[in-house]
Amino acid sequence: MNVFEAIKTRRSIRKYKPDSVEKEKLEKILEAGRLAPSAANRQPWHFIVVTDPTVREALRLAHESDWSVRSTSQVLKAPVIIVICAEPEAAWRRSDGEEYWKVDAAIAMQNIVLTATDEGLGTCWIGAFNEENVKKVLKIPPEIRVVALTPLGYPAESKGIVSDRKSSTEIVHYDQW
Ligand SMILES: Cc1cc2nc3c(=O)[nH]c(=O)nc-3n(C[C@H](O)[C@H](O)[C@H](O)COP(=O)(O)O)c2cc1C
Repeated sequence: MNVFEAIKTRRSIRKYKPDSVEKEKLEKILEAGRLAPSAANRQPWHFIVVTDPTVREALRLAHESDWSVRSTSQVLKAPVIIVICAEPEAAWRRSDGEEYWKVDAAIAMQNIVLTATDEGLGTCWIGAFNEENVKKVLKIPPEIRVVALTPLGYPAESKGIVSDRKSSTEIVHYDQW
């Protein structure tokens, strides 16, 4: 699968088979995150891989209190949950103070997501979670921020290629806005 095929076929998978994810596949997916570019090459990210059923369940319950987008509690029943964290103090900051740690972490996350797609695995960006609860469950230090979560596993639902997007005429500008 080339990169563009992965971009087109990646979908938010919210139902998973119980089958575990092979170690080699998981390592390749994490390596894709590690190799992501970041502002000034600061690499301010940490990836927490959750496979322990007790911790997964605690995580699933922990974030229900802030649940707003569809059935995340179902989504987090996947055999693996990857939690993307960032250390803002370690990240590059523009001279006007604009912080880039979320951008860096998001790029790493997308590398992870696209590599998972290439390996036949499903993922789903999860932004609707209670950060304090997630940090408590995973014993994440206070200075670290949680940017996103994704389940990882074999899809138990199939979706077509990405189609419901704005047209390029609505979003692409040449030379000026
Ligand atoms: C930053 C971000 C946060 C998201 N948070 C959630 C979430 O909390 N729960 C969920 O079910 N989907 C979440 N999604 C998935 C989007 O709803 C989904 O990507 C979008 O509807 C397009 O569908 P597709 O991914 O299947 O192409 C999130 C996606 C992004 C990029």
